[in-house]
Amino acid sequence: MKIKIPENFILGAATSAWQTEGWVGKKPGQDSFLDKWFQEEPFVWHQGQGPKEATNFMEMYQDDLDLMSQIGISHYRTSINWSRFFVDYENLIVDEDYASHIDALIDGLLAIGVQPIICLEHYEVPYQLMEKYDAWSSKKVVDLFAQYAQLVFQRYGDRVQQWVTFNEPIVSQTRCYLDAIRWPHERNSKKWMLWNYHKVLATAKVVKIFHEGGYSGRIGCIINPEMVYPRSSSQEDLDAARRYDLFYNRVFLDPMIKGSYPEELIELCKENDIYFDPTEEELALISTNRLDFVGLNQYYPKRVKSQRFAWREGEHFHPEKYYEDFQLPGRQMNQSRGWEIYPQIMYDLSLYMNRNYPDIPWFIAENGMGQENEENFKDQSGMIDDQYRIDYISQHLYHLLRGVEEGSKCEGYMLWAFTDCVSPMNAFKNRYGLVSIDLENDKKRSLKKSAYWFKSVIENQSFELENKM
Ligand code: BG6
Repeated sequence: MKIKIPENFILGAATSAWQTEGWVGKKPGQDSFLDKWFQEEPFVWHQGQGPKEATNFMEMYQDDLDLMSQIGISHYRTSINWSRFFVDYENLIVDEDYASHIDALIDGLLAIGVQPIICLEHYEVPYQLMEKYDAWSSKKVVDLFAQYAQLVFQRYGDRVQQWVTFNEPIVSQTRCYLDAIRWPHERNSKKWMLWNYHKVLATAKVVKIFHEGGYSGRIGCIINPEMVYPRSSSQEDLDAARRYDLFYNRVFLDPMIKGSYPEELIELCKENDIYFDPTEEELALISTNRLDFVGLNQYYPKRVKSQRFAWREGEHFHPEKYYEDFQLPGRQMNQSRGWEIYPQIMYDLSLYMNRNYPDIPWFIAENGMGQENEENFKDQSGMIDDQYRIDYISQHLYHLLRGVEEGSKCEGYMLWAFTDCVSPMNAFKNRYGLVSIDLENDKKRSLKKSAYWFKSVIENQSFELENKM
């Protein structure tokens, strides 16, 4: 079946600063929260690899630009590393060496006709601000982030047309303070909700600065809403799914897009003593400074059922009070990543957006297939024959385009990732790239089969779909 792609549909790829750059040129004191975690617990990172080397992007970015040009992607998303952008975060003294690298990167992208999408924080909050203010626990950090954004807009706003405040603003605090599976392993659900809130507030402040600054282009945020599927149509399972959606999805989407929090979420926060006590002035700021667009990361479905057990008195709150995970018998799995594969999430996401946020333009900001031991898939010429990735992308694109046909405001699809890159904990275990990075051979880049396929999709504005899922 031939699937056509609408004109001007974004076909791009994404990554982040910390997952590619490496520490070459990083000055003392410029650690991010993540860098510090890597230093504290290198053993949790697969084979001890982490942000220190990443893909050596600082030295090798020109190689990647050449490959982007060869494949023909329309957009590339990465972040500015906040922890490296300054030598003094409070007096806002810019690190000119690092800032010129960003200049060169942006100019290089524009020169080959690739639109940069620039994110201001992809977990790169400076460690110094964590030590001094406990990072996003503090309104001081919210203000410093807004000032950082203003400087960045002044410097690059003439060339960058698409900005995002955060990538997946819920993730760090969920892993660190709610689930406590990552350093500093503190169970503190009130802090979890406060960080959620402060990132919403920071976004509103940055949106205001951007709009009042009269820059061309637009400002958004990248959220990872999980499509939640209840086990059954029973009221208990429906309640579990609705509450999951409130705590993990609508907690960002509603205030950032609609300008206010869902009442039920506020009630649940109060009931569970994790309310974040906003001022009237802050709520007014959030209500009037909303996103121009939203990027959505989408990988797997979230299946839930009602919680069978009563919550223990005095136990730290967790949204699991209201749900349990449910595993659908017969589900298809990405065994490397442990994520279910269910391409229909893309169509269901379109319906979700139409139903809840019909006016805002959005695009898929990440979707992709992480594969372990990818070197085993080399063909005789040495190219990685990643047909599984081609199948994964085509299935997801197909369902996304079904949504577009039915009127969703989806503008495009960005693959995670352009090259293989480092992930939190998994490091280089699961490879995601169109471009392979040879760790044994000076990080040499080479195109995978999926890169040639993606190039042909872009050139032909269409692809063949086999075995629709
Ligand atoms: C997204 C993140 O959640 O998923 C990326 O924005 C991350 O930073 C990607 O790398 C893939 O997840 P993982 O853990 O397999 O790398």
